[in-house]
Amino acid sequence: MWRTSIPKLAQKVPYIDFSGQYAAERERILAAVDRVFSSGAYILGAEVEAFETRMAALCKTKAAVAVANGTDALVMCLRALGIGPGDEVLTAPNSYVASASCAGLIGATPAFCEIGADQLMDPAALSRAITPRTKAIMPVHLTGRVCDMEKILKIAAERGIPVIEDAAQAVGAERGGRRAGSFGRASCFSFHPLKNLNAAGDAGAITTDDEELAERLSLMRNHGLKSRNEVSFWGYNSRMDALQAAVLNLRLDGLDGVIAKRHANAARYLAALRGIVDCPPNDPGDVFHLFVIQADRRDALQAFLKESGVSTAVHYPIPIHLQPVCAPYGYKKGDFPECERQSARILSLPIHQYLTDEQIDFVCAKIREFYAR
Ligand SMILES: Cc1ncc(COP(=O)(O)O)c(C=O)c1O
Repeated sequence: MWRTSIPKLAQKVPYIDFSGQYAAERERILAAVDRVFSSGAYILGAEVEAFETRMAALCKTKAAVAVANGTDALVMCLRALGIGPGDEVLTAPNSYVASASCAGLIGATPAFCEIGADQLMDPAALSRAITPRTKAIMPVHLTGRVCDMEKILKIAAERGIPVIEDAAQAVGAERGGRRAGSFGRASCFSFHPLKNLNAAGDAGAITTDDEELAERLSLMRNHGLKSRNEVSFWGYNSRMDALQAAVLNLRLDGLDGVIAKRHANAARYLAALRGIVDCPPNDPGDVFHLFVIQADRRDALQAFLKESGVSTAVHYPIPIHLQPVCAPYGYKKGDFPECERQSARILSLPIHQYLTDEQIDFVCAKIREFYAR
């Protein structure tokens, strides 16, 4: 299934390889597309229901609600929990903007909690960051590694604050034998094309053990329609397309293989790069959505790798609290020093499942070369 030699691409090591993915799945994708077009059911329907059942089984939750994207999943979870103006939603400042915009979009206030050296929400900082206005805690399983949920859930339970997992990057990840998506009151996933379980466009889901909440969310994603003509509350148009569900259903079959190959890639990087740059831990529950090193002279390293034909990315160069959109909340440089320090050092190396060993060795050799100069 995976490549054994370097493909003839313009870049020696591309950050992602959609053409490799399509080549491996073409027949099954075409069959799935044919099935959807033949059924004439383009939105929700049997494909989406099958995906919801499989997603709930994967996360070991009672329910999963398929929606149009991960951002909508977060927005609707907050709304379904009654969060709104005057309330604070506490999340990580080093995340993708959607972890905070979901609060801002419903008139609530995004608030931030410092991260640890591991890039994840620091439970010690969480206790200090909670205020009387905190109405939800949203840990982010950034890069595909699950936060310290035992401590976070304990702190939240002591104060009666619901936890919503932002599991957008962590489908299939585990901690202490429990799956990402099964810890919080509700959990949100993204199936953006760059995610480990990826749709052919935008798609997302919410998992929960709270069946009443799931029922409310499944109305909310469809205009609050209780029946064809009866609207029970103002909702969204955030339904999953059947085509996306069909693609996700077939890719779910290969998810374990994707995760295993990413683990193998990570192990190869770790063996070659430890001691040269700061590396992530080799956590068995990690799904390595990203492989993020922390490096001195990051920008120069990234430029050197680019010149060498290695494509990398930075997730994310500007912490959310320092974005112009957050100016009205009064945040300033120095508010989250660990997050800010890491934002100048983090670099995501290619980790996708179509990488060859030769390609990984090439990246590692180039990094060694950079620091030997
Ligand atoms: C941590 C995190 N949260 C939320 C999102 C939002 O997901 P989407 O792009 O599907 O709206 C993403 C993904 O892009 C993400 O990485």
